[in-house]
Amino acid sequence: AVPGFCLRQVHTDLPEPSFQAQEDLISMRMVDLIEKKRDGGELSRAELEFFVRGLTSGEIPNYQISAWLMAVYFRGMSDRELADITELMAHSGDVTDLTPLGDRTADKHSTGGVGDKTTLIVAPLVACLGGIVAKMSGRGLGFTGGTVDKLESIPGFRTELSSEEFLATAAAHGLCVVGQSGNLAPADKKLYALRDVTATVESIPLIASSVMSKKLAAGARSIVLDVKVGSGSFMKDIGSARLLAEKMTAIGKSAGRRMAAVLTNMDVPLGHAVGNSLEVAEAVRVLEGRGPADLAEVSMTLASHMLSLATGEEPGLARVRCERALADGSAKRKLCEMVLAQGGDASYIENPDRFPKAEIVTCVLSPCEGYLSHMNAEKIGAASSVLGAGREKKGDAVDHSAGIVLFRKTGEYVKRGETIAELHTSDRERVPEAESIFLAALAFSEEKPAPQKLIYDVIG
Ligand code: URA
Repeated sequence: AVPGFCLRQVHTDLPEPSFQAQEDLISMRMVDLIEKKRDGGELSRAELEFFVRGLTSGEIPNYQISAWLMAVYFRGMSDRELADITELMAHSGDVTDLTPLGDRTADKHSTGGVGDKTTLIVAPLVACLGGIVAKMSGRGLGFTGGTVDKLESIPGFRTELSSEEFLATAAAHGLCVVGQSGNLAPADKKLYALRDVTATVESIPLIASSVMSKKLAAGARSIVLDVKVGSGSFMKDIGSARLLAEKMTAIGKSAGRRMAAVLTNMDVPLGHAVGNSLEVAEAVRVLEGRGPADLAEVSMTLASHMLSLATGEEPGLARVRCERALADGSAKRKLCEMVLAQGGDASYIENPDRFPKAEIVTCVLSPCEGYLSHMNAEKIGAASSVLGAGREKKGDAVDHSAGIVLFRKTGEYVKRGETIAELHTSDRERVPEAESIFLAALAFSEEKPAPQKLIYDVIG
């Protein structure tokens, strides 16, 4: 098993094609599929199956896959093609069968952001109110963080469970969060690596099928998507984010899942903490009812829609129940329960001051006076990564105590020389680079900037 990606196969993959279908697949040629897509045609289910099988097995060479990706980049995909290819990609590897857990299984997915620790809040909230959250999460890469790294900052916490342990923990506690199976949607893994080097990452159908193939393979009946919009996300404008959300919810529904998507602001990091243990501590503060308002609001919105999909109750009522579960401490108790069940030391959740502090903490002082008119979330994520909180390539170690604490955020007035943020690291040599990236993320104005929306819309 690949370290950290160890959920073993629960149930797998595409059925063997019928004799006739095998004949059809044998007579196909990849060059014809590329040509058809290049000219704006629609690929049949059989053609897409030929493509997904061939790319997963390695029979289709990378240059043909790359040409197909570019054709899709320019020509797009119909809703039918998108539903078909996503289902085929989902079945290209391990598929988690959550049916033994019943109908209330619920998952969430964030398209990626900076300071996004909502899973640590939403998952226990939904679980303590009757949803079943048996979830696979990712690690951080580049400027974005990952829930698995955050959870691993809790001493003893195990994110690698066998499939039996995963299902048993979720059945007993309604909650279990583990790392992704190494063989989850391998067709997506291959396509993503090629998209990265062929300038085809920014294609809505390719992003939608990539995200949803993994979500479908992960098995939950209800899925809430947190589609981020702004400088710290893939989607820089609301129109593209809405289109992506619509495509992803349509794919999920056509696969029989209950779907909702929330469009949320990621122009500025969520909350004040960026970095693994710093983010766990902040998530606990939200569960104690004293966390930052933006993080609490996004989390409550996601949790109420997740609960509403899982239980069938109206979102407004689900929201009231979520607020109660926060106020009476049951959501925090559920997080402690999960941490214990997965081998972690729950005293770190009881009292997050126990997390070791980074050896070096330096202040970033404001270079001028005025309103903070912009904080580029991607750059702040990159600065945190340089401090040791993230990794440049898969397999790099992370420093769990490294990161950034924001004292000021967009819209606030700052004086010259005032502390805007703290940089936390165990390596002093990383500070100058991180500080210069952080400062480059900031813009100031004399005029107070217009307040930004936090939740743009809910779809589905
Ligand atoms: N996240 C994914 O999993 N795939 C994409 O294409 C983009 C974001």
